[in-house]
Amino acid sequence: MTVDDVKIVELPRFLDARGNLSFVEQINHIPFEIKRTYWIYDVPGGEARGGHAFRQNKEFIIALSGSFDVVVDDGQNSKTYTLNRSYFGLFIPDGLWREIRNFSTNSLALEFGSEHYSKGDYIRDYDLFRELKRNEEI
Ligand code: TYD
Repeated sequence: MTVDDVKIVELPRFLDARGNLSFVEQINHIPFEIKRTYWIYDVPGGEARGGHAFRQNKEFIIALSGSFDVVVDDGQNSKTYTLNRSYFGLFIPDGLWREIRNFSTNSLALEFGSEHYSKGDYIRDYDLFRELKRNEEI
């Protein structure tokens, strides 16, 4: 996997004077079966989280509220996506380093995962990540 496998997905929007509505479906907009959903909230403005890679877990991230930057890195190249609209999602395949930065105050990050939580699925050491990538072990 490389940063070119990361995709911004535009979600359906029903615009309505009473308030807009968007939705996501697994397999469809989210290109995997969802096994887990979690959200990151009450993040102090400007904070960063999530410097790690997953061996197996694929992710789909939506900024339900506020904004933040998602930095993805394949060991050779990195790309930054600013998420600030609730009708765009970011698909991140397995085997990429990712970090979320510059959370705005009161931002809400919704994340869908293709796997159940597993501590062993995390790679938290960037040098190890690069080595695994170099050896094509992830
Ligand atoms: P973590 O993924 O390390 O957050 P970040 O990378 O954004 O800093 O998760 C923080 C803690 O939450 C960690 O101790 C594990 C726990 N956790 C779960 O128990 N289940 C989950 O689904 C997730 C995402 C985290």
